[in-house]
Amino acid sequence: MNVLILNGSPRPGGSTAKLVAAFQKGAESAGHAVHRVDVCRKKIAGCLACEYCHTKGNGACVQKDDMQEVYPLLQEADMLMLASPVYYHNFTGQLQCAINRFYAIGSPKVLTRLKKAALILSSGDENVYGGAMYEYENSFLVYLHLENMGVFTFHGEDQIADEALEKVFSFGAGLKD
Ligand SMILES: Cc1cc2nc3c(=O)[nH]c(=O)nc-3n(C[C@H](O)[C@H](O)[C@H](O)COP(=O)(O)O)c2cc1C
Repeated sequence: MNVLILNGSPRPGGSTAKLVAAFQKGAESAGHAVHRVDVCRKKIAGCLACEYCHTKGNGACVQKDDMQEVYPLLQEADMLMLASPVYYHNFTGQLQCAINRFYAIGSPKVLTRLKKAALILSSGDENVYGGAMYEYENSFLVYLHLENMGVFTFHGEDQIADEALEKVFSFGAGLKD
């Protein structure tokens, strides 16, 4: 299966990046084609609500920034992995901009191939996941009709301990087509 990871952390050596790398290694070991987009290394602006995509644009976004690389990856993906540090009880702004830009093609009628989703969240404290979970459940599981394959939350100092990395590696390695 084609797995698209949207990594919302701005820190290349941070916890989210390490967890994402372990998940990717696991999924690739099981033969899946994994494409990772570090959204913070991209220029992805917020949605302008101009409705060009739903009128003249016929599904194309008027903003010709790096989101144009993500749209085809989304359309070819069977599974979406969202990964983010928790910032003020939600995804990072950079990931939120990318998610808002799904608007151009983000409906089950257009994303016909996308069937599965999973989530990795990294935070300083525990029990701070309500905001991100609300969005994940409502926008991805309910609205896009995706099957939840797993939610992984890690917090504090030992979140990138071997046990955590092993957990997300095994999750990736255990994914079936
Ligand atoms: C702007 C900002 C906002 C944050 N907000 C929260 C928060 O609301 N709750 C929390 O537990 N941690 C919060 N944190 C801490 C990060 O979620 C935490 O350090 C996380 O592990 C960082 O992941 P990373 O190593 O991938 O960058 C915040 C950090 C930053 C920089």
